[in-house]
Amino acid sequence: MPDLPADQERARRRAEELRAEINDHNHRYYVLDDPVIADADYDRLLRELQEIESLWPDLRSADSPTQRVGAEPLATFGPVHHRVPMLSLDNAFDEQGLGDFHRRVRERLGGRIPDYVGEPKLDGLSLSISYQDGLLVAAGTRGDGTVGEDITANVRTVRSIPLRLQGREIPSFVEVRGEVVIRRRDFRALNTRRLEQGERPFANPRNAAAGSLRQLDSRITARRPLTFFTFGVGALEGTAPESHHGILERLRGWGFRVNAEVRRLRDPEACIVYYRDLLERRDQLDYDIDGVVFKVDNLADREILGFTARAPRWAIAYKLPAQEATTRVRRILPSVGRTGVITPVADLAPVEVGGVTVSRATLHNLDELRRKDVREGDTVMVRRAGDVIPEIIGVHVDARPANTEPWQMPEACPVCGSEVLRLEDEADYRCVGGLVCPAQRMGAILHFASRRAMDIDGLGEKIVEQLVRRDLVTTPADLFRLDHATVAGLERMGDKSADNLLAAIDASRETTLPRFLYALGIQNVGEVTAQRLAAHFGDLEPVMEADEEALTEVPDVGPVVARSIAHFFAEPHNREVIAALRDAGVRWPPVPVERREKESAPLEGRTFVLTGSLEAMSREQARERIEAQGGKVTGSVSRRTDYVVAGEAAGSKLDRARELGVEILDEQAFLVLLAAGEVA
Ligand code: IVH
Repeated sequence: MPDLPADQERARRRAEELRAEINDHNHRYYVLDDPVIADADYDRLLRELQEIESLWPDLRSADSPTQRVGAEPLATFGPVHHRVPMLSLDNAFDEQGLGDFHRRVRERLGGRIPDYVGEPKLDGLSLSISYQDGLLVAAGTRGDGTVGEDITANVRTVRSIPLRLQGREIPSFVEVRGEVVIRRRDFRALNTRRLEQGERPFANPRNAAAGSLRQLDSRITARRPLTFFTFGVGALEGTAPESHHGILERLRGWGFRVNAEVRRLRDPEACIVYYRDLLERRDQLDYDIDGVVFKVDNLADREILGFTARAPRWAIAYKLPAQEATTRVRRILPSVGRTGVITPVADLAPVEVGGVTVSRATLHNLDELRRKDVREGDTVMVRRAGDVIPEIIGVHVDARPANTEPWQMPEACPVCGSEVLRLEDEADYRCVGGLVCPAQRMGAILHFASRRAMDIDGLGEKIVEQLVRRDLVTTPADLFRLDHATVAGLERMGDKSADNLLAAIDASRETTLPRFLYALGIQNVGEVTAQRLAAHFGDLEPVMEADEEALTEVPDVGPVVARSIAHFFAEPHNREVIAALRDAGVRWPPVPVERREKESAPLEGRTFVLTGSLEAMSREQARERIEAQGGKVTGSVSRRTDYVVAGEAAGSKLDRARELGVEILDEQAFLVLLAAGEVA
């Protein structure tokens, strides 16, 4: 942080400089999508300004970028009066409806065809923002068109909305109109974050945007990725351009985001072309649209055309096919992905959604499916947007047939019959037959051959794909049975490269135990764990025979990893492949069994149980730090437990610890214990 200014006058100048600079970066990032500064540098500027404003509170201004973090919660939203009413739009649902609109316009203009502007109709929330002498003074929802809700505090947090108009021709008063949306990539990130935090995901970006803007606590709104696109003005006191596109240009100059798809269109034919083009590209846009709006461009023409009771005669919304539809779930099937994760997928009665026929929808995982309680036979709402897989967003429980049962995850993999396992703290169920499962073949073989595993040079994706597709290789052991004629017969393979690949496969037989263990692709066994297992057990057989308890003796191996390893080796299919690999001549030198030095592992032999939540770190991080010092973490309290670490809202495990007289550490004591070991 640079030195702070020495006096008020210098502070004022520096604050002004910083504001201008930060506002410019905001505009580039949130409006132009063209940032020119690293996040860390931006944060530094903002912190400097915050610092100055806290030392000289008089310098704090309503349009300072520091004021975008939200304010104290409100009790209710007050009313906001729109000077020019916020009208709605008439709709057209087909080309004939659009043709009727053009005919009406032409008749009222005495047979003349006007210029139009075409715009996407964004599926978000309508907003009116008032600026007095360039300063944002109020913002409201549409409400009944005349009076809306005052959501000024929330709107101030939206980074793509200028707190002060930039540039020239600043009017003494203006109502800026537009739509607040959440862009698709932001929406996906937002929902991922919510799921991780155990919160309900939003059904669609529109609901998320609406819910975010209607928060009484604007600090919540400030954390939501809202974007504002302007599409016009209401009241305007000041010089006005002659056309709608002129107004949009002016809005752009004032610092607003104008949609990049806006076009001037010469005649009705150009409108049709524009519509068809957007319909086709709809999935590639980064926001949801539910139609296309055509507006007469010339403002004098608009005067002539005027309004009906509810909508202007100079504009029309041509609707796109809806992105949500109702259908029936025929069956729910477990689908095995390339990494062995089993996803419940709904097989649907085919239905048109947004112009595409949908007959499958993902249910993500068992928790999600349970939360929505989707059952076979249910009537459901499906949604498809962008390139994402269609999703079930809700169930009509009233329409549920009698005698349905909640869906169950199968106990055996539907593809290979291996065990299906869910590890603690994991949302996903997985097939443990990694070495044999056809669904996982590509991934398993690529991993097996990878540089840090068996290191088979030249065995890349293109070749593995052919080998798997033609059933030449079904498990890694088959690699060692390939002959020259087979390999040379693959696409992009000559005699010479076939020789090279076979030589590389042959050479990989001579490996090390850690590489081999890592190559098996056991869930949660990375290179480090593989090395620890090798050092602890010395050879493969004892690893394969070890039970979960014996496995947790290994430094760095907690109960979850132990369970994953034990179940992997318990699977007969996997054992067969390992035997076949050894028969094929895969071998390694014996590993000297390591004696761990006591000094580096001060928690060696100590068993911990974690309960409740810690402030300083997640449970996973706590586990890592305990294990790094040689300690172990188990799931339940017994007489053999050395410590119970009790965080916030600790539950029954804490009671049990008291019952058994096990030592209890609060967070502070736990941190002290860790720190002591980490210094040593
Ligand atoms: S113009 C008097 N342009 O659609 C004209 N509206 O059904 C008022 N909307 O409340 C609106 N994108 O929230 C206009 N490019 C666009 C739009 C748009 C979305 C919404 C807006 C309005 C509703 C009218």
